[in-house]
Amino acid sequence: MSRESVEKQFSRSERFSEKITKAVFPVAGMGSRFLPATKASPKEMMPVVDKPLIQYAVEEAVAAGITDMIFITGRNKRAIEDHFDKAYELEAELAMRGKDELLRIVKKIIPSHINCIFIRQPEALGLGHAVLCAKPVVNNEAFAVILADDLIDGEPAVMKQMVDVFSQHQCSVLGVQTVPRDQTKSYGIVASSPLEGSNDLERVTAIVEKPKPADAPSNLAVVGRYILTPRIFHHLAQVTKGAGGEIQLTDGIAALMKEEQMLAYRFKGTRYDCGSKLGYLQATVALGLKHPEVRDEFAAYLSALQHAK
Ligand code: G1P
Repeated sequence: MSRESVEKQFSRSERFSEKITKAVFPVAGMGSRFLPATKASPKEMMPVVDKPLIQYAVEEAVAAGITDMIFITGRNKRAIEDHFDKAYELEAELAMRGKDELLRIVKKIIPSHINCIFIRQPEALGLGHAVLCAKPVVNNEAFAVILADDLIDGEPAVMKQMVDVFSQHQCSVLGVQTVPRDQTKSYGIVASSPLEGSNDLERVTAIVEKPKPADAPSNLAVVGRYILTPRIFHHLAQVTKGAGGEIQLTDGIAALMKEEQMLAYRFKGTRYDCGSKLGYLQATVALGLKHPEVRDEFAAYLSALQHAK
């Protein structure tokens, strides 16, 4: 479809504010793949080098110009609230001891113009239900969804790339990448058709949650980054239990796609599946090798390990 016809389609429907100001972070999941580490603390608080996963996600949203961070939390998630709250005693203690650099690090976790909003999801009924819990705060705006266990190292930040796509096309945008065929059962998989004039955008024509490789319409997977129009709430309120007996975001998106244009965006960046042990270790190694404080010694250590084999 040409850009003109996409724009024509959208001149018929509502235009949204060009700015995305709200991001939803579903953080109520159990984190069972990381037990026992996640028995008493949230998986989103697991650190990669020196920052918890949820902080990478929030920093990505801040880099995209988003100001309202909406966390959908559950039991055992108090550490996330505490992490983004002011820590008076800690700050006073660091100031008293003259630990200025550490004080700076603690204070900049959340810039002062950012609002953090916490909504409790009473039961973990699925990702779609978690996103629906944000409706009273999001209202009638397009908004971002970021899954913190998909850590994406991108420059510019991947959500910033997606906000730019949204500003131009005024429709929902899904962050996608190709995955090996045998992994389709771990993802929402899209079918798509080319968008004329673009190499990294495609029109979504179907989406299925966690299909077996034989049933998958492609190997193009949604990886934890979404910009959705508010009409999604209408559909999420209607969808019934899908894959895994859960209210799936993918099923809401499948319904929305029938009414509105939806684009799949092949983002620029490296994604680490920090919901899996292997992906988490890969993120730790990759970001450790970039961290100014440890990179040289860490690289030397890894190379010595390699040679000792
Ligand atoms: C969720 C979504 C899935 C998406 C994936 C990305 O699945 O349901 O559509 O592809 O995140 O990480 P989960 O990994 O929570 O099972």
